[in-house]
Parts: sequence; structure tokens; C-alpha cells
Amino acid sequence: MNAFPGRRDAHAFHGMARNTPGSMKGGFEAAFGRPPEVAAQAPGRVNLLGEHTDYNDGYVLPIAIEQQTSVSMRRNNQDEYVMHSEILGSKVRFKLDALPAEHFATYVYGCLMEARAAGIAAPALDIHIESNVPMGVGLSSSAALEVATLRALRALTGQSLDDVRLAQLAQRAEIEYAGVRCGIMDQMASSLAGTQCALFLDTRTLERRLVPLPPASAVLVLDSGIARTLAGSGYNRRRTECEEAAKRLGVAALRDVSDISIADILPEPLRRRVRHVVSENARVLLAASCHDAMEFGILMNASHASLRDDYEVSVPELDQLVGLLQAHPHVYGARLTGAGFGGACVALCEPQALHEISETVLRGYSSAGFTGRVLVPPTEEAWLDR
Ligand code: GLA
Repeated sequence: MNAFPGRRDAHAFHGMARNTPGSMKGGFEAAFGRPPEVAAQAPGRVNLLGEHTDYNDGYVLPIAIEQQTSVSMRRNNQDEYVMHSEILGSKVRFKLDALPAEHFATYVYGCLMEARAAGIAAPALDIHIESNVPMGVGLSSSAALEVATLRALRALTGQSLDDVRLAQLAQRAEIEYAGVRCGIMDQMASSLAGTQCALFLDTRTLERRLVPLPPASAVLVLDSGIARTLAGSGYNRRRTECEEAAKRLGVAALRDVSDISIADILPEPLRRRVRHVVSENARVLLAASCHDAMEFGILMNASHASLRDDYEVSVPELDQLVGLLQAHPHVYGARLTGAGFGGACVALCEPQALHEISETVLRGYSSAGFTGRVLVPPTEEAWLDR
């Protein structure tokens, strides 16, 4: 089943090959005057269930989205890397002996450094980046950039690097060089998930399986319009709280807690943090073997309540948007998705009602004084914007 049935074929609309992002504003050749040696793509992801569980060794259930990042490269025979992207609007130059001043370039720099440490050393390169993965909304634009960069490096050097190892290098790049102590979900999803089935992943063992969406359901993602800065937000603090709670409970990770009442000995907010992680893991396990869209939706609604009340990573605007989605008769369930503190909501919906749902919900959101937009399925306008 197509998880995103409402998507019109924007690739065909642009006369482009499938699997390439929609940018028509340039490309490698326009930036560097000759064609690239290699190009590779990687998608963003939306997480259906299992939030803030990955760095607790728990379970997650993401699915890839249609939007992708493309990275193309060519050896430049110089002594520095030259990176170009529409997102930057100009070229950034850097060497491997110093972290680039431009934050966006640190993701690519981190991948080059991690690849080198893994024995995949690349000479100085011209690098071009195109992407239509929405940035800063919780759809893993950074993981898409990291995975596409490492895929391009793999193709350029001809070195063998399996997709799991590649995801691990991408995660290290984000932690060591972009400063976010993220889990492995986003990079595994970008490296291994497809758009047709969700990826059920045990983040401790990295065991995984593809899980079809429940029959007669489709994914809708709406942006709340509230910006979110992942590293500057409470993300790293939440992770530290979880580590502290695990230590006090005498377990390696919160994944090892199965009885929530054990957390009663902890002070607040640690008790609530544990309650979220333990209940969220249980919800992912249920959802991964759930064939009923209504039951799946109930699990999503409960996840949002837990993220709002116990994990405290929602904001009033997200609660408003999620509330409007949950109240719609053709929505099975909805929740914030990604790290929270702003960003996007994901809903499981009746496929034929996606357009009507997004219109009605965004109108209601606008009446409350906020501006949202549809992120998934991507609209023609979203592709044309790029
Ligand atoms: C971000 C991180 C992930 C994960 C989510 C929350 O996307 O990169 O590793 O922790 O937040 O579930």
C-alpha cells in the first residue's frame, strides 16, 4: 500500500528522473562548471511512534518520506573542500584540520572525519548539496544530509560500507561535530527505511523488520510553524535525565525497566521521564504488530499525551494542532513527531480524506492565530519552491 497516496507526481511534473530532489536552480555543474563524479541520495523520515526511546536503547517505528537530499562530489585537486548548496547561497571552503565556521557544513565535515577514521579517506572535493527535505521541523534533514554524504563517499572511493555501519558513522558525525547527542533512529531510517513500510527497529540490537501500515490508512505530516532548535533545546538535557534515572534504578538503560512502578522511588521530573520511556516502548511494540488503524491511532494519541505531560517536549501550538487533528472524524490518531519543542505533527488518516483533513485542520489552526502547512504528502508547490 502507498503510505502517501495524496502525493502528486511532482518528479514527472518537473520532467525529472525519480529519486532526485526537486531543485532545478542549479546543480553541481552550474556551481562548479563540470559534472560530478558521483551523486547519492537519502530521504528524510517521519517517526510514527517511539519518541525519545532510541537513546534509551528502546524501540522506534519511523518511515522514510518522499523528500530527499542529494549530494554530488568530484575530486578538485586542491588543498581544501569546497561546498555549495542553495541552502547556503554561497560556497563554503574548509580543510579537515578545523571545524567549518558555517554550522550547515559541519554535518558534511563530520561525515568526512568519521569516514576517514573508518578508513574511507577522501581527497579534497567539490561538493554540491540539493535538498527538498524540510529543515528544522523534525523530519531529519540532517540525517538525510549525513547519509547522502556517506553514500556519495562510498561510491567515490569504492570502499565497502554496509548500510548499518554507514548509519552508525552518520550518527557519530552528528554527535561529535554537530553537537547533538542523538540516538540512532534518524540515520538508520534514512539509510534503511523505505516510503512504503515503517521500519520497526530495536535500537539496542539493531534488529529490524519492515511493518506495513494498517489497512486503509495514510500518513499526514503538518508543520506547526514553530521553530525548534534541537541542540539549543532541552534534547540533551532529557538525555542526561534518562541516564541519571537509569543509574539510580541500577539498569544499563531505561529499556531495561518493564514495571513503571519501579520509577516511584525517583524524584520528579525523573519519575515522569521514566514513565514516558517505558510506556512509549510498550506502545511501539503494540503498534508494530497492530493491523487496525484505529488501535494504532489510539497509541499515537497516548504517545502525544505522554510526550506533553511526562516528557514535557510539546509546546502549546503543537498541542493545538494535534488536538485539531485528533478531533477530525477521518483521523485515527495524531502526535508530535521528532524531538518536539516545536516542529511537526504526524497523523494516521483515512487515505481519501487527506486533503480535506489538512484543509480543515489548518483553517482551525489559522483561526487560533497560527500558520501551519502540509509537509507530507509533499505538494507540487513545495517541490516548485525549491
Ligand atoms: C531526534 C534525534 C533522534 C531521536 C528523536 C526523538 O530526531 O535525532 O535520535 O532521539 O529526536 O525521538
